[in-house]
Amino acid sequence: MQLHTKASGAAAPVLHAEALTKIYGSAKNAVLHKALDEVNLKVYPGEFVGIMGPSGSGKTTLLNLLATIDRPTSGRVTIDGMNPATMSAKELALFRRRQLGFVFQDFNLLDTLSIRENILLPLVLDNAKSKVMETKLEELARHLNISQILDKRTYEVSGGQQQRTAIARALIHDPALVLADELTGNLDSKAAHDVMSALKDMNEQRGATILMVTHDPFAASFCKRVLFIKDGKLFSEIRRGDNRQVFFQHILDALSVLGGNFSEVSASRN
Ligand SMILES: Nc1ncnc2c1ncn2[C@@H]1O[C@H](COP(=O)(O)OP(=O)(O)O)[C@@H](O)[C@H]1O
Ligand SMILES: [Mg+2]
Repeated sequence: MQLHTKASGAAAPVLHAEALTKIYGSAKNAVLHKALDEVNLKVYPGEFVGIMGPSGSGKTTLLNLLATIDRPTSGRVTIDGMNPATMSAKELALFRRRQLGFVFQDFNLLDTLSIRENILLPLVLDNAKSKVMETKLEELARHLNISQILDKRTYEVSGGQQQRTAIARALIHDPALVLADELTGNLDSKAAHDVMSALKDMNEQRGATILMVTHDPFAASFCKRVLFIKDGKLFSEIRRGDNRQVFFQHILDALSVLGGNFSEVSASRN
């Protein structure tokens, strides 16, 4: 099924997935599992897209293919007009570092570095000028309300602060696309609210293009558009109006049609 946005006019998509299929297992052991089945998806510049589905529906598989961490069994991914499948390992590593930003459930910060050093890492790896780095860091830190913890270590700050640090690190090199997997999964409801508000700000005020996968309807209610996935197939999409609470309710309604297990905790977070 072809799902695509109409809102963004003629701009080229940042991300284009065509007939993405992923089959796990090998023909040899005869236990094959089709985790993704011909998924088509376009994400345009400035979008904030959520992909929701029950546990095991293929969300992480999809994200790993889009993130070029894993390769599809068939189908094609294009990011910013480029096809990662044609790149060498070295080109791919560079492409990932420059064009993509990642936010994970378990933060993935380096404990041996300060918060500041964690955020600057993508720029340090690219030999950016220190003046440029400092200016970008200060602006992002202010936006994300972490200016006061920049010299602390990761274990000295809260989970919400760690995740906002991870968001800063994902955005500091102005990637074409930010990918996030269950980024509120390890957070309490207050921290989840702060983190999602921060991500929404990054989208609305810095124009970051974001694709996030989650099973949490509260987190998804911050997106502008939510796609639903079940058994490896995309089958519906809804868009947010002005009101997040109303959108949250629409998401819950869509999920009840979808079936599957969703946490009751999330439903009460709103
Ligand atoms: N590396 C793997 N090898 C075999 N099966 C896998 C692997 N990763 C995921 N799967 C299976 O693919 C399906 C989709 O998994 P996943 O993408 O992790 O779902 P989600 O993130 O929506 O919970 C599940 O049935 C899962 O067991
Ligand atoms: Mg997952």
